[in-house]
Amino acid sequence: MQPRELIPDIFCVGAIDWDRRLFDSLIPLPDGTSYNSYLVKGKEKTALIDTVDPPKTDILEANLQAMDIKTIDYIITHHAEQDHSGALPRILEKYPEAKAVCTPRCKELLASLLAISEDRIVTVEDKESISLGGKTLEFIHFPWVHWPETMLSYLKEDRILFPCDLFGAHLAASDLYVTDEGQAYESAKRYYAEIMMPFRTNIQKSWPKLDGYTIDMIAPSHGPIHRKPEFIMSAYKDWVFSEPKNTVVLPYISMHGSTRMMVNHLVEAIMGNGVTVKQFDLTVTDIGKLAMELVDAATIVLGVPTVLAGAHPNAIYAAFLANALKPKAKFAAIIGSYGWGGKAVEQLTGLIPNLKVEVLGTVLCKGLPQEADYKALDELAANIARKHQEAGIK
Ligand code: FEO
Repeated sequence: MQPRELIPDIFCVGAIDWDRRLFDSLIPLPDGTSYNSYLVKGKEKTALIDTVDPPKTDILEANLQAMDIKTIDYIITHHAEQDHSGALPRILEKYPEAKAVCTPRCKELLASLLAISEDRIVTVEDKESISLGGKTLEFIHFPWVHWPETMLSYLKEDRILFPCDLFGAHLAASDLYVTDEGQAYESAKRYYAEIMMPFRTNIQKSWPKLDGYTIDMIAPSHGPIHRKPEFIMSAYKDWVFSEPKNTVVLPYISMHGSTRMMVNHLVEAIMGNGVTVKQFDLTVTDIGKLAMELVDAATIVLGVPTVLAGAHPNAIYAAFLANALKPKAKFAAIIGSYGWGGKAVEQLTGLIPNLKVEVLGTVLCKGLPQEADYKALDELAANIARKHQEAGIK
C-alpha cells in the first residue's frame, strides 16, 4: 500500500485490512476494515494522526519511509484502543523526538495498555490547539465514543474533522473517499450499532460541541473519507436522536419447530397490522445484522424454546447482547414453547435491565401451538401495532 494524498500536505498513510473477519474476537467484519493514519505536514512541524493495528505496523512504517519522513513532532493519539495506538510504541521508538498528544485520561491508558512512558506524552485540554505552521489542529474532547478517553481533532485551515472511531466504518476499500453511498451507509450503520449505540446518550451530550465547526471533510480512522460530511452526520443524527421506527425485530431459535411455527404466525400477524418486521434465526444470524436492525426497532420480540430447564443458550446470548447494545426500543415480548416446564421467561427478563421497555407480555405454549396460542399471538401483534400508534411511532 502507498501513501495517498487527500489534499496537499495531508496524506493517508494507514493500512487496509482486507482479510480481517472478526474484531474484538466478537464482531463479524464481512467487508474487512482499515486503520487510517493521517500525516499532516505544516511549514514547521509534522503530525501523525493515529497509528494502526499492531500487525499492520510495517505498512505504516513503509509509507512514512516512502515519503522520506525524517521527523515527526506529534503523534495525535485520539484513542488508546490498540487498533489505532498499537503501533505507537514502534513509531515513538523510530522517531525519538515525537510526542504522543492525547487527553489526560488517554495518558493513563497508554501507560497501562502500551507501557508508553510519561515523558513521551503531552496532554491537551478540551479546545486546546497546536500549530504546525500554517496548519492548526484543535482538539475536541469527546468522551465515550466509545472509550472514556477519546478526543477528535479539527484541522482549522482545511476544515477537516478527524473523529477517530466516530463516523467510522469497518469497510476495506481501495478508494480513499466514499464512492458508493449505499455501501458506506450500511457499513457505518453496522459500525454504529456494534460500537457506538451503547453510548448513544453520551453522543447526544457531546454532539453540540460540533456545532461551531465548518466541516468540509470527515476523515475517520476506519473506512473511507467523507467529502460530504452531511451524509454521515445526518445518518448519525437519525440513529442517535430520532425516535424508534414502526419496526419489530424478532430474533428466535427453534429446536423441533414449535417456536418456529409461532414465529411464522406472529410475523404474518405483525405484517397484517401494518408494522414492519425483521425475523432472525439465531442459529445462522450475523450478529452485526441483528445489531443494525436494533438501531431503529420500536419493539423486540424474542422467540425462545426451553432446553435444559431454561431458555435456549442462543436466546440468552441474544438477550445479553441486546441489553449491552442498549437500543432505543420501547416495547418487548417473549414467545416460545416448552416441553414440560422451565424458567425461560424469568431468565430472559433478568438479563435485560438496560432495556427501558414496556413488556407487552409472553406467549408460551406447551408443545405444538394450539388455536388459543395462535389467538394470543394475533392479540400480541395487534397490541404491538396499537402501542406503536399510541407512542406516535411511524
Ligand atoms: Fe477503532 Fe475503538 O477502536
